Amino acid sequence: MNNRIKLSNGVSIPVVMVGTNGMDYLILKSVVTAAISRGFFAFDTAPNYISERYLGRVIKELMSEYGYVREDFFVQTKLDWKDQINNNVEGAFKLSLERLGLEYVDSYLMHWPYPDYYIKNWRQMEEFYISGEAKSIGVCNFRERHWSSFFSSDIKVIPHISQIEIHPLRTCTTLLEFCKSRGIVTQAYSPICKMIPQIRDNEVLAGLASKYTCSIPQLILKWHIQRECVPISKSTNPLRIISNLDCISLEISEQDMININTLNQDYKFMIESWGCPGF
Ligand SMILES: NC(=O)c1ccc[n+]([C@@H]2O[C@H](COP(=O)([O-])OP(=O)(O)OC[C@H]3O[C@@H](n4cnc5c(N)ncnc54)[C@H](OP(=O)(O)O)[C@@H]3O)[C@@H](O)[C@H]2O)c1
Repeated sequence: MNNRIKLSNGVSIPVVMVGTNGMDYLILKSVVTAAISRGFFAFDTAPNYISERYLGRVIKELMSEYGYVREDFFVQTKLDWKDQINNNVEGAFKLSLERLGLEYVDSYLMHWPYPDYYIKNWRQMEEFYISGEAKSIGVCNFRERHWSSFFSSDIKVIPHISQIEIHPLRTCTTLLEFCKSRGIVTQAYSPICKMIPQIRDNEVLAGLASKYTCSIPQLILKWHIQRECVPISKSTNPLRIISNLDCISLEISEQDMININTLNQDYKFMIESWGCPGF
């Protein structure tokens, strides 16, 4: 199986990325080392995750310790909503590059569609793409109404990536298909819904995990991949990272994909007003 997926601009990303929210240097180093030991070099961060600075440092160390080059890594960070309303899009982007210690990022995402600001700010993000300082650009937390305003405005660059909350309790099938039809790759955050009891103790998922001789997280991560959606998997435990990434070899049948889809109840873990007042 091909372990990469191509964006509309030809840039390719691994079929699983690793999330770094809230990780300090030591945890991050063990997690990044574990991920690359399985051949996964793609990491998601943001200015409010604490981890931007540590991610840059760890990547530099791994390059010098093992001879990796910058191009081996896919580094993705985001534009914070506060910088959107403070007219600080360029300043925020430069500061992210500085904290990461990188000359470019592989992907720069708008963290939230802040009402009244997001279209104007997207036009500024387009400039980072045009200059090559962001190899691809995208958005997070866009619902149908945001896409609809976007596509009826005068944006020059169609987002390459859409990152939203997706897991078996929130399958977002229509949105996923909409993005696919526009050539936009979807990334799933909270891909295992943080293993809350409704997931951990779910009989359908437990039955399928037993059938495929895998863990529930592995089953769900492979379900994402087979839907052509890139899960952002996060664990502070390097052994869990390795185990999660080993989902790749699973092959879920079409019927079982449908069985997982039927668990949808449009449940959202992440409260939107917290991350984006006025959303
Ligand atoms: N764009 C946005 O607005 C947005 C919002 C939220 C998140 N994100 C991104 O998405 C990433 C992932 O989000 P998330 O943390 O909500 O995702 P998640 O993968 O659904 O949940 C992570 C949680 O699951 C646990 N876990 C991981 N693997 C496990 C396993 N094999 N068995 C049991 N428990 C396991 C982890 O605990 P341990 O650490 O103890 O293993 C952690 O508490 C974040 O780091 C961030 O990069 C983006």
